[in-house]
Amino acid sequence: PAAVRDRLRIAIQKSGRLGEPSRALLASCGLDFRESRDRLFCYGETLPIDLLLVRDDDIPGLLADGVCDLGIVGRNVLAEQAAGRAAEALPEVARELRTLGFGGCRLDIAVPDGWDWSGPAQLTGRRIATSYPHLVRQWLEGQGIAADVVLLSGSVEIAPRLGQADVICDLVSSGATLAANQLRPVLTLLQSEAVLAGPVRAFTDARAELMALLLRRMDGVLRLRD
Ligand code: PRP
Ligand code: ZN
Ligand code: MG
Repeated sequence: PAAVRDRLRIAIQKSGRLGEPSRALLASCGLDFRESRDRLFCYGETLPIDLLLVRDDDIPGLLADGVCDLGIVGRNVLAEQAAGRAAEALPEVARELRTLGFGGCRLDIAVPDGWDWSGPAQLTGRRIATSYPHLVRQWLEGQGIAADVVLLSGSVEIAPRLGQADVICDLVSSGATLAANQLRPVLTLLQSEAVLAGPVRAFTDARAELMALLLRRMDGVLRLRD
């Protein structure tokens, strides 16, 4: 049986690109918080809605485990979890409730500047470095291409120069990191931005009403921003 709770808990990125805009959005929704000394937990003052400040990559897992009720996270991170669960025939545990209009980026395949790119078939038998193994494997399968996925949790862009991989699949925002590593984006697997992620099934305790209230306010804020 699911735990009954009377407060809503939202996971957001502690630092990094989504942290500040996430907090600003929640403030615009009328939420305010008292921060714990370690700055990992923020207690909701005017509403029983609390924040957990975490690594973005941990947010889908926190939702899956029921530790948090909602999360503000990149679609890329959520989609990687979904692809991983789909590969193991596990049910979905989190879904996109709203798109939030910040943190826009693309999940792109990028090849060394010198490559004469002719299309996806060129990846056959190549090594692709990425932090998104499930999304890349899912895409390769869809294309009917056999290639090796090399899992790296960071500094993916340096892998081709180190000889660890031939090409990469990573997030591109300004493109500066790719350019600095003599890589060129050739195709996009996913258009991403920050999303509000939440449960697949509706809450049956006090959290249902809190979530409805938050969504109403968020919709108002997002409409004004358009
Ligand atoms: C992301 C991504 C790239 C970089 C691309 O990392 O992994 O390395 O930004 O941005 P650019 O195109 O503007 O150069 P980031 O450090 O933001 O997030 P992460 O720590 O979660 O990977
Ligand atoms: Zn991250
Ligand atoms: Mg990075």
